Amino acid sequence: MPEKISTDVKMDTTALTQTEDYMSASFRKVAIGSDHGGAYLKEEVKKFLQLQGFEVTDFGGDPEVSTDYPDVAFKLAEAVSRGEFLFGVLLCGTGIGISIAANKVKGIRAALCFTSTHARLARAHNNANILVLGGRTTGREVALDIVRAFIEEKFEGGRHARRIGKILEYEFNKRDSIQDQ
Ligand code: RB5
Repeated sequence: MPEKISTDVKMDTTALTQTEDYMSASFRKVAIGSDHGGAYLKEEVKKFLQLQGFEVTDFGGDPEVSTDYPDVAFKLAEAVSRGEFLFGVLLCGTGIGISIAANKVKGIRAALCFTSTHARLARAHNNANILVLGGRTTGREVALDIVRAFIEEKFEGGRHARRIGKILEYEFNKRDSIQDQ
């Protein structure tokens, strides 16, 4: 039987007002996890984050052990959504499966990034709280540039906060904000 995952996640409106970059935040706990396809790159990203002074909790991922990416995605994303971590990093082979899964969790804005520009905009416009990387599609140097951009950029708020507010409203209250206009 799969472990029961808590669904007790409250709507987190701090997502709309928090405009500090992750790098300068005082709460330094971050989460990382992967399936087998993202496991090698996970180790590199983990080391990099530790060097930046983050306390990194590893949710697993071993290149020799076949793992279903939804299992890792749900566990890590639930913990991020409960506010136990400042942000998360998830990796699978392409990053696609694990980002689809993570984005099913309420309050999660998981962004699959291929360049540092994606990462900067994922923070500035989307206030992403999980960075997703493809272990088989992105090399180490590009991946670390992406992580650096993700932690250094900050959410711009303003019109972007309004848009994220609509996503939160839909997620938590199932109200179609488009029809309301
Ligand atoms: C695993 O073989 C692979 O399918 C997975 O890592 C990922 O790429 C799925 O989206």
